[in-house]
Amino acid sequence: MDNPTTAAPPPADLRLQRSSRDTATVTARLTTWLATVLPPGADPSVVVHGGVDANGMSSETVPLDVTWTADPGEATQVGRYVARVAPDAQDVPVFPTYDLQHQYDAIRLVGELTDVPVPTVHWIEPTGDVLGAPFFLMDRVDGVVPPDVLPYTFGDNWLFDAAAEQQARLQRRTVETIAALHAVPDAERTIGFLAPEHPGATALARNLARTRAWYDFAVPDIGRSPMVERALAWLEAHLPDTEESVLCWGDARIGNVLYQDFEPVGVLDWEMATLGPPELDVSWLVFAHQVFQSITDMLELPGMPDFLVEADVRATYEGVTGVVLGDLTWYHVYNGVQWSIVFMRTGARQVRFGEIEPPEDLETLMHNKPLLEKLLEEVHA
Ligand SMILES: Nc1ncnc2c1ncn2[C@@H]1O[C@H](COP(=O)(O)OP(=O)(O)OP(=O)(O)O)[C@@H](O)[C@H]1O
Ligand SMILES: [Mg+2]
Repeated sequence: MDNPTTAAPPPADLRLQRSSRDTATVTARLTTWLATVLPPGADPSVVVHGGVDANGMSSETVPLDVTWTADPGEATQVGRYVARVAPDAQDVPVFPTYDLQHQYDAIRLVGELTDVPVPTVHWIEPTGDVLGAPFFLMDRVDGVVPPDVLPYTFGDNWLFDAAAEQQARLQRRTVETIAALHAVPDAERTIGFLAPEHPGATALARNLARTRAWYDFAVPDIGRSPMVERALAWLEAHLPDTEESVLCWGDARIGNVLYQDFEPVGVLDWEMATLGPPELDVSWLVFAHQVFQSITDMLELPGMPDFLVEADVRATYEGVTGVVLGDLTWYHVYNGVQWSIVFMRTGARQVRFGEIEPPEDLETLMHNKPLLEKLLEEVHA
């Protein structure tokens, strides 16, 4: 497995500084590389948009336009793309391993096997020799994403301000989209490379083992979390008895979807894609909203308490699939742990880059802490 966290550092001039990668260098490098993947004589030119700052927490997405000639004498082609660039090992990556090829293959297969709208993927540069990290190009899709910063529950954004009927449409269509992913037949065979490599008797056990290993990976950079350790012990002792193994998107939240007119037009962010029971994604969808809602609750803001309510999401999912979902509590705790580990990594990154002092209590970094603590109380963990 390609692992940029252990790979030798790229040459200094190409190192992907989080906010200061040199646009001119990137443009020149991309142009030279595209000339090798496009037909001979294509003579590509590249325009990189909006600087090259990281706009995500775990990798980088860079919008760019490419102009080239398909055949001499024919009209020029213009492609609107997004480059997805693997995170740099120097940047305190969120995940211990990062397999860009898997993401690329997952998006391509979802495009082939389902009606789920994913951006068409084009060329992948797996070596890291061109930009200092592997990347691929996919189509740039027009659409809007519910904001994470500030979370959409804070108001003053297109989703919050929409009519109840529009919010309901977005919710329903998103659940239907997740259901369509889960319907990929025989995922273990068609897309089995997404299964966690960690040991376990079932797909869910392997996911949990991977999450435990992810926590162990996060500890040295930031410290231990008694809450997460308590949750992991409870999860291991109460593993649901299911052998289900469908294609799970992994990071199944509305902040990873491009919408047009409240309908999904681009399902993004496949780095957490896995095989496991459908409850993994359904819980993630609901839990992610609960995290944002709980922050507004704490601040005594209205938030969106009627949006992505578990019972409604479950009813839609079960209505379109005919599948009766199991109880989601275990999955909420599991996803609470995953959120916590993401905050451990992003916190460690902020410390590394001098943005914050090392916290005395690392759990203060976890915006999902009240929610996870409440869940742990409910299950007597
Ligand atoms: N194919 C695309 N077309 C248009 N915009 C895109 C595309 N891919 C990514 N984007 C834009 O870049 C943003 C970040 O993309 P994405 O969620 O895939 O990456 P990420 O930064 O790793 O995510 P996260 O913040 O969840 O870790 C999206 O919200 C969207 O605005
Ligand atoms: Mg994202």
